[in-house]
Amino acid sequence: MSQMKINIEQAKELLQQGKVVAIPTETVYGLAAYSENPEAVKNIFAIKGRPSHNPLILHVGNPEECLRYAASQPMGLEALMSAFWPGPLTIVVPVKQQLVLPAVRANLATAAFRMPKQSQTLELLQQISPLVAPSANLSGSPSATKPEHVEHDFGTDFPVLDGGACQHGVESTIVISHNGMWQVARLGALTQECLAETLGYLPAIAVANRDAPVCPGQLLAHYAPKARLVLSDSLFAECPKQLPVVIGFANRSYPGAERIFLLAETEDAELAAHRLYHVLRQLDQENIKEAWVDMRFSDTGLWKTVKERLFRAANQ
Ligand code: TXA
Ligand code: MG
Repeated sequence: MSQMKINIEQAKELLQQGKVVAIPTETVYGLAAYSENPEAVKNIFAIKGRPSHNPLILHVGNPEECLRYAASQPMGLEALMSAFWPGPLTIVVPVKQQLVLPAVRANLATAAFRMPKQSQTLELLQQISPLVAPSANLSGSPSATKPEHVEHDFGTDFPVLDGGACQHGVESTIVISHNGMWQVARLGALTQECLAETLGYLPAIAVANRDAPVCPGQLLAHYAPKARLVLSDSLFAECPKQLPVVIGFANRSYPGAERIFLLAETEDAELAAHRLYHVLRQLDQENIKEAWVDMRFSDTGLWKTVKERLFRAANQ
């Protein structure tokens, strides 16, 4: 039974009343609140158990909205917006600070913007925006890519705008401008290679450090199931006597494995990303304590995102 599936109109009304609702995006589900309501924003941090120094993404219904908030426009901003919006790209922009609540941007002088592509959410954003929407999971857990995941973390009474399974299944890629060059602050659904086609160069991956985090969320333990993950690219050589649970690929064989969770074939990064969080959540649902992950896959394109998420999930 799905008690709290809501429609776009109901979502809008709840948001106007300062409530928090879950919304589908093409990446992962978000926990949305109206960005100009301080109580609602505060509530988002409370519901997720999210530290206040981790800022939120402002979801907008069109690029002009983002430009209205921008204190200055980093070179290439409009090119990125016109190439990838609506879509799985989040852009960090210096903002007119009086226009964005300090809690939203964790007191930074910048804010992150994204125009999602998912049709229901885009329609909702035409009616009420900007919405802040962190991923709809308890802080630290794998993101939610299906309404069931949201219900698992926040209860069956939680209002969810049902968009079925999210297309990409991993979060948006976040970019930030540094000395006139765009850098990737978080790998995500949009690949570095795709960005390079518009930028004319391959954007570097920004290096986070504790003194100057480019993306505060990147320093936190994240995307992790309760199960211990053992990442391995020499699975069988290291295989202990007692055969493990394996997260692996459909075109590989894992003789004798006690249980196998398949991501996709090793050539299908899109499907592997789409299934990743679902598989991680399945481990916990089945109370599995430890799983071995087959890391023998490519290091390019979307695989890079899959790899990064697995490293984070394994707390490495
Ligand atoms: O795909 C997504 O981006 C999803 C969907 C729901 O849109 N949202 C999402 O939000 O992943 P969240 O809150 O789970 O992750 C937002 C990330 C955090 O790592 C945060 O540190 C970073 O964005 N961020 C937000 N504002 C920033 C800023 N001004 N500078 C650098 N990083 C920022
Ligand atoms: Mg998140």
